[in-house]
Amino acid sequence: MRLHRSLLLLVVLASAVPTALAAALLVRAPGGIDAGAAAAVGASLALALGLAALVARGVTRPIAECVRGALDIARGRFGREVRVSAGNEIGDLAYTFNHMSRELASYDAENHRLIAALERGYLDTIRSLAAAVDAKDPYTRGHAERVSALSVEIGRELGLPTETLQALEYGGVLHDIGKIGIPDSILAKRTSLTEEEMALVRAHPVIGAEIVAGVEFLKGAVPAIRSHHERWDGAGYPGGLAGDGIPLVARIVNIADTWDACTSRRPYQEAIPADLVAAILEGLRGTQTDPRIHDALVAVLRRRGALAADSAA
Ligand SMILES: [Fe+2]
Repeated sequence: MRLHRSLLLLVVLASAVPTALAAALLVRAPGGIDAGAAAAVGASLALALGLAALVARGVTRPIAECVRGALDIARGRFGREVRVSAGNEIGDLAYTFNHMSRELASYDAENHRLIAALERGYLDTIRSLAAAVDAKDPYTRGHAERVSALSVEIGRELGLPTETLQALEYGGVLHDIGKIGIPDSILAKRTSLTEEEMALVRAHPVIGAEIVAGVEFLKGAVPAIRSHHERWDGAGYPGGLAGDGIPLVARIVNIADTWDACTSRRPYQEAIPADLVAAILEGLRGTQTDPRIHDALVAVLRRRGALAADSAA
């Protein structure tokens, strides 16, 4: 505390000089040193030292409190107020500091509100796009939202952190957003696709990832969109990734997508009963799907009551 020491020295010097002069006069006085006068000089010196300590403390303590408050604000703790009760310029400084801190907290809260509103706006737009993709085929209406909800439930079952659950929510909704550019005639085709049509369909994960990659708060969803058609055994697309090389969120969206596609009515098939789909998925465990995620899906479906307790696991 350099200021504290300086003030202490200043006040001591200011008080000690007259005291020392008084002491010198006392020593030179005819008849020797008067005991009473010497005691008065000593007491005066002690008082000077005490006052010096009080003044130094009175100035440096509120300043130190203001410094702590400024550091808290620099660390983002807006709204931090300092407790200084001095009725002088330091008190004015603390009052102004507290006012500034409250204003910063208010601006910060407003910023958060605006950012959240902006993100909701973006997400609503993107959800509308996803719904538009679903609407291209009446049989897949609501598919994106269901895949999103099931992916998040599987993520919770696996104990994944909040940011991963958010990536699953957005990735689930947007996993097929890349189909937006595929003609309806190809998506709804009942006969087998030509090689060219197949290549177009197989491009949808990459197109979708490119659409979403430009939106900052959706970046976490990109791996789920790009890799939701990869397979655990490496036979999927677009990258032919295998095992743990496939992003976790994509492995989850893959199984949620498969479950919903099988249990929904399609142009080429009626909805398959849940227990039969569970048996089909059991056959894909370790080939198309990650065994650990398969088990998490079964646990979620049992909890939902979609599967009997003793069905395929
Ligand atoms: Fe897809």
